[in-house]
Amino acid sequence: MSDAKPRTVAEIMSAPVVTAEPGETIATVAARMRERKVGSVVVVDSDRPVGILTERDLVRIASEGVDPSHDPVGGWMTPEPDSVSPDESVVDAFASLAEHGYRHIPVVDEKRLVGIVSMRDLMRIARIQPAESLAHEVPKGLEGVIVAETVIGDVRGLEGFYHYRQYSAVDLAEKKPLEDVWYLLFYGELPTLAQRDAFIDEVRPLREIPADLAAAFPEIVRLCRDAPPLDMLRTTFSLLATSLAFRPSLDVAAEELREQALRTCAVIPTLLMAAYRLRNGLDPVAPHPDLHYAANYLYMLTGEVPPPEHTRAIEQYLISTIDHGFNASTFTARVITSTGADLGSAIVGAIGALSGPLHGGAPSRALDMLDSIGTVDKAEPWLRDAVERGDRLMGFGHRVYKTDDPRSVMLRGVAERLGGEKVELAKEIERKAVEVLAELKPGRRLYTNVEFYAGIVMDRCGVPREMFTPTFSSSRAIGWCAHVLEQAADNRLIRPSAQYVGPPAPQPVPDAA
Ligand code: ACO
Repeated sequence: MSDAKPRTVAEIMSAPVVTAEPGETIATVAARMRERKVGSVVVVDSDRPVGILTERDLVRIASEGVDPSHDPVGGWMTPEPDSVSPDESVVDAFASLAEHGYRHIPVVDEKRLVGIVSMRDLMRIARIQPAESLAHEVPKGLEGVIVAETVIGDVRGLEGFYHYRQYSAVDLAEKKPLEDVWYLLFYGELPTLAQRDAFIDEVRPLREIPADLAAAFPEIVRLCRDAPPLDMLRTTFSLLATSLAFRPSLDVAAEELREQALRTCAVIPTLLMAAYRLRNGLDPVAPHPDLHYAANYLYMLTGEVPPPEHTRAIEQYLISTIDHGFNASTFTARVITSTGADLGSAIVGAIGALSGPLHGGAPSRALDMLDSIGTVDKAEPWLRDAVERGDRLMGFGHRVYKTDDPRSVMLRGVAERLGGEKVELAKEIERKAVEVLAELKPGRRLYTNVEFYAGIVMDRCGVPREMFTPTFSSSRAIGWCAHVLEQAADNRLIRPSAQYVGPPAPQPVPDAA
């Protein structure tokens, strides 16, 4: 691989460096970091580095109740930070980072600060390193670790911004129909009107469940009758992929894989709704040929053409949840694809990952929480008790967002547009919960995530609670498939390492008792 060649630090460092002086206040420096979108500043005395202050320090400072508008950074920085020379090889610089657990390291030439290299820069070449040198660096839960390159989209947690192929996802949700965004994810550009129409025509027949599977559906649903709908989807989609003989992605041409991906995204809503209705003693409703994705989604639930305001609200929710960085289910889909397995396996694995409450399983729980709080006056004691007991408030907190989740902000607006008592209650509970979390979990920066208002929006549009996470899976399938296509197009087996922390090995194997 060309980018695996040894290179010097000078070639990959960032310059000029964002700096601060020891006497500047923490608030001033934190604002500069936010504005310049950097995770650290080098503290300098003229151009000699005397310390480094990172985001981690800011979290520590916040949790210790320091007044950032008075305290100078000099008291909080790591003094006399290790540095590397611009001539040093990237490999050696990486070794010093891995050994000490630094995230950023100043680049110094004859005592003068000339640049900075970050873990992010160095991870690009990390694949040429032996696994042992990485082991110290990988934080639990892989937080912040870059495991692949993608052009599908990105999440900027500190800014509260995410995008799909360069377009703000929130703007797309405000301005475009779902089919346009689906097209964008698959083809890399927004469609013209003619392309949109052709795409809708291409997708329409793919929404049908193949006849033999449709005939077996009532029996499958009977067998799985107590299973949550997402488990049912995992089962029925697996059957569909097997019956359509999806072959290993390694053996399939890009065009065939794309067709499988289109079919997958098109048919998932039909599978979900058919199972839901059968389980509730109702006949499945076939896709409506004249309705587009969002309207058809609600139509297959009730058998009635939904009002436009519900269609648009659900469509905005669906668009906003299509993709979101390397979340657990997307990563799962990519790992499975990296083995060369078929697209069906990748999507089944992703559905499984999404079913966990820490990922996709929260919107109904968030609404359950609102119900058990009941009224605004009970909110504070209820929330305080829950957090003090060690419970997690569902719909709050995010691995990447340490500010408002932009999806939550958008969905709050959609919920307000739809109106209703629950919306007002939710807004009050959000306000109280943010206060309680700031007090009892200082420095953790916990705000509502996408799931908090998602539940309210779906509820107002008539989607039953048990179908909240399945609805999320329906839109996210588009993101999963885009990632499967991207992974397959430039594949390398994803096979990380673990650090063994058990008792020393080898031990003699005991004789049979
Ligand atoms: N309520 C109370 N405390 C919380 C919450 C919460 N919702 N979220 C995080 N915390 C606290 C943790 O208790 C922990 O505190 P500690 O340092 O005293 O132990 C600290 O914040 C950090 O928590 P982590 O578990 O390390 O955060 P992580 O980044 O791993 O978790 C997650 C992110 C799983 C979303 C978490 O915030 C959570 O459990 N939220 C509730 C469930 C939820 O809303 N899930 C939907 C996520 S959105 C999505 O997947 C589309």
